[in-house]
Amino acid sequence: MTARVIDGKAFAEKVRGQVAEGVAALKAEHGITPGLAVVLVGEDPASQVYVRNKGRQTLEAGMQSFEHKLDVTTSEEDLLALVEQLNADPAVHGILVQLPLPDHIDSDKVINSIDPAKDVDGFHISNVGLLGTGQKSMVPCTPLGCLMMLREELGSLSGKDAVVIGRSNIVGKPMAQLLLGDSCTVTIAHSRTKDLAGTVRRADIVVAAVGRPNMVPGDWIKPGATVIDVGINRVDAPEKGEGKTRLVGDVDYASAAEVAGAITPVPGGVGPMTIACLLANTLTACCRANNLPEPQGLTA
Ligand code: GUN
Repeated sequence: MTARVIDGKAFAEKVRGQVAEGVAALKAEHGITPGLAVVLVGEDPASQVYVRNKGRQTLEAGMQSFEHKLDVTTSEEDLLALVEQLNADPAVHGILVQLPLPDHIDSDKVINSIDPAKDVDGFHISNVGLLGTGQKSMVPCTPLGCLMMLREELGSLSGKDAVVIGRSNIVGKPMAQLLLGDSCTVTIAHSRTKDLAGTVRRADIVVAAVGRPNMVPGDWIKPGATVIDVGINRVDAPEKGEGKTRLVGDVDYASAAEVAGAITPVPGGVGPMTIACLLANTLTACCRANNLPEPQGLTA
């Protein structure tokens, strides 16, 4: 079998189009423009690229974008004061503090100072608790994007055996909660899992989010399974020339694509969905803040 390739780039474009339609309707019918504030502390190159892309796509969706770039020496106190100011600003419906933060700042303290209703990352402890108890919450963007792709690919997920490899707070744990919410039988596997190969072989759905290049080989995949690869790992690519690199996922794509029913590529799979879901969350937060109906198909 050769797997269907799940085109995350095209799907993200579709989601961004739906968000843009929702934003246009909010403006036309209610005179409201959703606003997203992104806070970047320091000059980490990868974070700068993320923040630039977020800002551009926010504007393209018709939303307001507020960027706050702070010096790496910014104190925790000053960062907390900025978050307070954004919490109180009625033009700001979503707040994202780019991680990682410099070592002298307590990330948990900063994230938990964000108004949970504006926490479009879904990292605030209140949102984590709401998701864990099946209540309405803001859902972390990458797992939300994975869920949307799985629903699009499979329709109902009810009764499927799902394995999430990786137990991070940002992807693994919320992903497992979302799959449980859609009535999957969920296993969370991690570095201490005894029989990882056997565990993955039983799964109709595999979500790999460990950050280890090509760690899941094709012969672990159940024939016909749906594989979502969250990993983005940069590896040497001498075949492209000296000093060149390329991106690979946590799944060995070539061998897995021969067995799986459907699979996300890296790049072009989960990656583009993350910012699309950030925009979707900002629209959702704006609708909730104004007691308006939420956009359909853009939430968990
Ligand atoms: N750093 C890398 N990805 C993310 C993300 O999704 N949210 C935040 N806040 N920081 C990140």
